[in-house]
Amino acid sequence: MALILSVLALCAVAAIWFFWRRGSRQRLLPCPASISWLVEMENPLARVTRSAAILRHLDPGTSDCIADIGCGPGRVTIPLARALSAGGEVIALDVQAEMLTKIAAKAEQNGLTNIRLLLCDAREPNLPDGSLDAAVMVMALGEIPDAKRVFPVIHAALREDGKLLVCESVFDPHYVSHKKVVEMAAAAGFVESSHQGNRFAYSVVLQKPSRLSGNLRRQHAARPEKLLSEPQHACGSQK
Ligand SMILES: C[S@@+](CC[C@H](N)C(=O)[O-])C[C@H]1O[C@@H](n2cnc3c(N)ncnc32)[C@H](O)[C@@H]1O
Repeated sequence: MALILSVLALCAVAAIWFFWRRGSRQRLLPCPASISWLVEMENPLARVTRSAAILRHLDPGTSDCIADIGCGPGRVTIPLARALSAGGEVIALDVQAEMLTKIAAKAEQNGLTNIRLLLCDAREPNLPDGSLDAAVMVMALGEIPDAKRVFPVIHAALREDGKLLVCESVFDPHYVSHKKVVEMAAAAGFVESSHQGNRFAYSVVLQKPSRLSGNLRRQHAARPEKLLSEPQHACGSQK
């Protein structure tokens, strides 16, 4: 009997997993705020997804403005807000008001005044161009229908050389592979700058190239032999 019940429970979980994942591709089916306690747990089996690891990988430095896209109940938002130097601000962006209410309560408990709440769809956030130093999107991408639309929007909102960290884990029903993320990001103009983890849980930092480095890269692709020869000439055998 116990075995039958266990198998039935497993089948039910698998069915929810499958239909939620499929449904999210067509319409908004965000992770309900009522189960946000699940999201809040720092997964011991996926180290790169923990908030401390995300902060280390992003290395926010002296960033003034960082957006946490699909911030949920603030598992990453709160440590990010603590890590920023004076004057720095985190924009906590989510499509569910209940999630932002949870963050507001936590910010108050922690005496944090540098979190701005933004209730909107990540595909249409209306962030001013070049206004962000960095952005993080942790286990949120797969919940967003037509997710590729998010990358050009974030790209425009980032300043030149700004960074976007995307983190995904197979423990999330909406897992998006590293390859898919890099493809969508590259189509929007991002360049992968570093990667941590493995195929089950990873975080990747994508950079918006500055116009100067972008031009150099294009020239390099068009005339590799010329660019390769230039530094040799500049550094060495000058007659
Ligand atoms: C699994 S939770 C991850 C929360 C948080 N990033 C973390 O790792 O703890 C995904 C979050 O993305 C949000 N979300 C889903 N679709 C969204 C959209 N189109 N725009 C903005 N947020 C969205 C959900 O409301 C939910 O809070």
